[in-house]
Amino acid sequence: MNRISRSAIMLAAIAAVACTGAKAPQDRLTVNDKAIDAIIAQMTLEEKVEMMHSKTIMSSEGVPRLGIQDIKYADGPFGCREELTDGFRPVGWKLDSATYFPTGSALAATWSTEMAYKYGQGMGSEWRTRGKDVILGPAINIQRLPVGGRTYEYFSEDPVLAAALAVGYTQGAQDMGTAVCVKHYALNNQETNRGSVNVIVDERTMREIYLKPFEAAVREGGAMSVMTAYNKVGGTYCSENDMLNNQILRGEWGFKGFTVSDWGGTHSTMGAALGGLNVQMTGDNYLGPALVDSVKAGKVPMEVINQKVREILRVRYAIDAIPEDQANQVQTSQKFGQDIAYEVAKKSIVLLKNDDHILPIDKSKVKKIAVIGLNAKASTAAGGMGAGVKTLYEITPLQGILNEVGNEVEVIYAPGYKNYRGMFGRRMIVRPGAEDIAAEIDEPADPALLEEALDAARQADIVIFFSGTNKNIETEGSDRKDIMLPVGQDEIVRALREANSNLVTVNISGGPCDLNEVEYNSKALVQGWWNGLEGGHALADVLFGKIAPSGKLPFTFPIRLEDSPAYALGNFPQGQDIQGDLFGNQYREDIEGQKAALADAGNAYYTEGSLVGYRWFDTKKVDVMYPFGHGLSYVDFDYSNIKASVRKGKITVSFDIENLGDLDADEVAQIYVRRPESKLEWPEKELKAFGRVNVYHGSKFNVSMDIPVDDLRYWDVESHSWVLEPGNIEILVGSSSRDIRLATTVNVQ
Ligand code: BGC
Repeated sequence: MNRISRSAIMLAAIAAVACTGAKAPQDRLTVNDKAIDAIIAQMTLEEKVEMMHSKTIMSSEGVPRLGIQDIKYADGPFGCREELTDGFRPVGWKLDSATYFPTGSALAATWSTEMAYKYGQGMGSEWRTRGKDVILGPAINIQRLPVGGRTYEYFSEDPVLAAALAVGYTQGAQDMGTAVCVKHYALNNQETNRGSVNVIVDERTMREIYLKPFEAAVREGGAMSVMTAYNKVGGTYCSENDMLNNQILRGEWGFKGFTVSDWGGTHSTMGAALGGLNVQMTGDNYLGPALVDSVKAGKVPMEVINQKVREILRVRYAIDAIPEDQANQVQTSQKFGQDIAYEVAKKSIVLLKNDDHILPIDKSKVKKIAVIGLNAKASTAAGGMGAGVKTLYEITPLQGILNEVGNEVEVIYAPGYKNYRGMFGRRMIVRPGAEDIAAEIDEPADPALLEEALDAARQADIVIFFSGTNKNIETEGSDRKDIMLPVGQDEIVRALREANSNLVTVNISGGPCDLNEVEYNSKALVQGWWNGLEGGHALADVLFGKIAPSGKLPFTFPIRLEDSPAYALGNFPQGQDIQGDLFGNQYREDIEGQKAALADAGNAYYTEGSLVGYRWFDTKKVDVMYPFGHGLSYVDFDYSNIKASVRKGKITVSFDIENLGDLDADEVAQIYVRRPESKLEWPEKELKAFGRVNVYHGSKFNVSMDIPVDDLRYWDVESHSWVLEPGNIEILVGSSSRDIRLATTVNVQ
């Protein structure tokens, strides 16, 4: 039997084994190890190393001689990115239009692991359609800075919420036969100088806050691959960080799959080889010929190489490679994914305020609606760099409203404000088709556009103003300068209220904005997110009362940016901007540009420790605009009858939620803990569990949730391990972090 056909038989055997395993999440990857080792034994050193770097910008090489297929990747967290050439230019296919799913912060606002699971399924199935093996997502870093360019990609400022959603997404996608690549491991919490900034964080905070979502995605979710971040942690680039990759990820969490560097984030041969990197993305200058030489020179042991190949092959054989002639036969976006995107969007919309019950809008009582603001009409699918989606279609908010009201109500639209330029790596970006561009993002309202908007507002029974940002300023590669609403939106909302006090504002953004003016001037305020291709329909369902809003904020809206922890302590900005972004600059021809992004960017100190987001505001007793976990409904919920007990390593908390309204509605109940007697430093309260329940109008639902006692442990920096401090723990049940309805105490030992 010749070599090729023997390998083919071996691969068939491997595929069969891979389908049968029902083991612990990571152990599923090791079921083929024996067969994999037999294949590795047939490989030359060159063939092994060939698997450890990019083949194209979105693939890494297999070994054709042995029937090992390439691994095919695609961005990103919320939709299968279109087919790209090596310069990141679209190939221009017709069938690669994908489903644009709600972005990360929108998914997080559902506070639903069930939604996260379905979302993963929707994504995973489209990857299969496209013939792709690995989703470059979910993006699960903690939202540390309100200005963070990727806040909209990430889930939450809270590790428990982010972790639960990361697990759901991971399981959903991988159950569809697609691997995830959770990113960006670790501590990539700012875009400013992301290519070289060095994060200095204490060990306890790192473990309890920043690593938690990754740990959960790996341990509980069984994530098959992990993308190392661009930045340094403790002085070492993440792509070669032995502590993060070898000791914690593999050693403690039992990760059995492979790591990929963020694009352009590999920086040395020996560092990457010994520091736990499997695949250099992109290029082969480190994990390519130089690695072959290092092995030959005896600097890198062959067992290190074999282990890297083993880890790559485990994933390769856990995921069926899709033959070229079976991929891309139908449109990537299918109803399956579109329906999931719609369902997630409906559950993500957050009602922040609703004075005089101005919402929902009763179509039979209004004749004319004025829709004001460019964000009502703007597409949000593209842009933001890696996270942009070439969507099959997109229902904008305005379109959603028009579809909802049909001929029943007249709708007049006025843009109100101009589009504005974005900053990416110091290159100004102006989107094509954006005719009316402001010279500066903070320029005052345009008199002519304002007059047109006021004229529309005066004629209408009700005004819906669309405030917010767009991906020109909330984007990978840079952070926002501040959280102010751009191009005179504050001035516009003040004037609109003068013209018509029946004013509802819908804020369309991925991250927090300064809402002081819109909050003061609007009767109702809604956070509408970048909500996927059905976002406009979902919004209309909420505005016109087809469903009750049920989203809850996954992050705090501060009153002032300066109140937030990293700003209050002077930890951000760090005072130096090193001229450009690593990703952007690596595709520049001139070496100067490339060097600039790797210049020493200094340290990012996380001296706020675990006081991130609401943990800071609550502990320091700082008022906020809207707290973490906040979100109103069209009905009121009554909480009663709390009981809590500790048994067999679990705290079981039960309580009743009654829907006092006349509409069926979802409520997200949140359980926080406070530690009144602790000798250690803790935040005022911490989220430990949450659950979304559907309660029929006029009825009561008994909710029961478990908190594993282990989840109350802290990271002990003396013993470098998780330790439980026994004692009394207050259990706080609330509708938000600042709307605690029930409390009781349990004793844990
Ligand atoms: C981003 C990653 C992305 C990669 C490939 C990088 O710039 O940080 O999130 O997956 O590009 O597009």
